[in-house]
Amino acid sequence: MKKHIVLLPGDGIGKEVISSAKDVLQAIAEEYNHSFNFETHEIGGAAIDQYGTPLPDSTVDACKQADAVLLGAVGGPKWDQNPSHLRPERGLLGIRKALDLYANLRPIKGFKNLLHASPLKEEVVAGSDLLIVRELTGGLYFGTPSERRDNGNSVVDTLTYTRKEIERIVDKGFQAAQQRSGRLTSVDKANVLESSKMWREVVEEKKAQYPDVVVDHVLVDAAAMKLITNPTQFDVIVTENLFGDILSDEASVLTGSIGMLPSASLREDGVGLYEPVHGSAPDIAGKGIANPCAMILSAAMMLRYSFDFNTEAKVIEDAVQSVLDAGYHTGDLQIEEGRQVGTAEMTKLIVDYIKSQHASK
Ligand code: NAD
Ligand code: IPM
Ligand code: MN
Repeated sequence: MKKHIVLLPGDGIGKEVISSAKDVLQAIAEEYNHSFNFETHEIGGAAIDQYGTPLPDSTVDACKQADAVLLGAVGGPKWDQNPSHLRPERGLLGIRKALDLYANLRPIKGFKNLLHASPLKEEVVAGSDLLIVRELTGGLYFGTPSERRDNGNSVVDTLTYTRKEIERIVDKGFQAAQQRSGRLTSVDKANVLESSKMWREVVEEKKAQYPDVVVDHVLVDAAAMKLITNPTQFDVIVTENLFGDILSDEASVLTGSIGMLPSASLREDGVGLYEPVHGSAPDIAGKGIANPCAMILSAAMMLRYSFDFNTEAKVIEDAVQSVLDAGYHTGDLQIEEGRQVGTAEMTKLIVDYIKSQHASK
């Protein structure tokens, strides 16, 4: 059956890497007899320039009607001085909220033979394989109203969570732990924040429903430290929106580059949105050197979670591993040996592997 995929390239390298993901999906379609229909819409800075808003209604409507959405990245210096409602990032937050994508899954797995790409010691990184389950539609990001008061001399950002919002993401954390090694770490700041105290209560209450999961609680500051001193102690981490944002960028160091980290933004039923963890990288945008792997691996997550195309998802993941194994890598990976390639060549190598794999069967 034809799958209808909405592409939201956004800004900067978002546009470059989304085109890589499309090439890879087209190769999958050809080799595995699928039919993907792509429709591109604007979000972020590109939408501000074209429509005067970071999230046009037409984009939201298109996403609601899609079978899945792929998003590149939004933002850039051109719009950094805009008022808050006219910032590209508002478009991203808006689409997450409009589709109620409260569960953001961010897998972080050191690639085989790439341990030395991390600035951390190889023996620290070896064997690290974790999943951050980040709450995506609540917390400080969605406080109302964020504002300046007192003639600009004071500021207000509010952090609100309902018990229900915490329960549903904590359930996702437990379920993910059940499917993996059965270990769940809940990260909070319960020694200070009321929201974190409720978070911890909910986790404690939920334990009884998941007797096969071993749970511990770690304060976010300590979690940040443990993540890079002893990452293998973690399997699934469940945490609120802002903590998850910060910890996932930190965890990308385990893989050698943020250009390697994919993510899936999901809800129970309904359309899923797949996006790399990285941003629009204005410092390298337009140079053709962005690492497309995070975006390509996000497309693999789309095949797995939205379409249940598990074989095809695995082929993409194997393709990335195989191209890295052959010594090819983009410049963001700090590796001396092998051959440094740009976005287009990296993409072509991944596409060629997919084609060769299927041909050899
Ligand atoms: P960033 O992730 O864009 O870049 C951080 C650093 O990592 C930069 O040096 C960049 O060159 C590098 N990098 C990131 N992705 C890469 C890739 N695929 N290949 C090679 N190098 C890569 O974060 P930033 O610089 O803090 O933010 C830039 C803009 O992106 C801001 O406007 C920010 O709001 C936005 N942003 C958007 C998203 C998103 O759309 N999901 C995520 C994060 C940041
Ligand atoms: C991410 C990004 C976004 C976030 C920004 C651009 C709003 O950093 O997806 O990690 O903080 O969620
Ligand atoms: Mn982030």
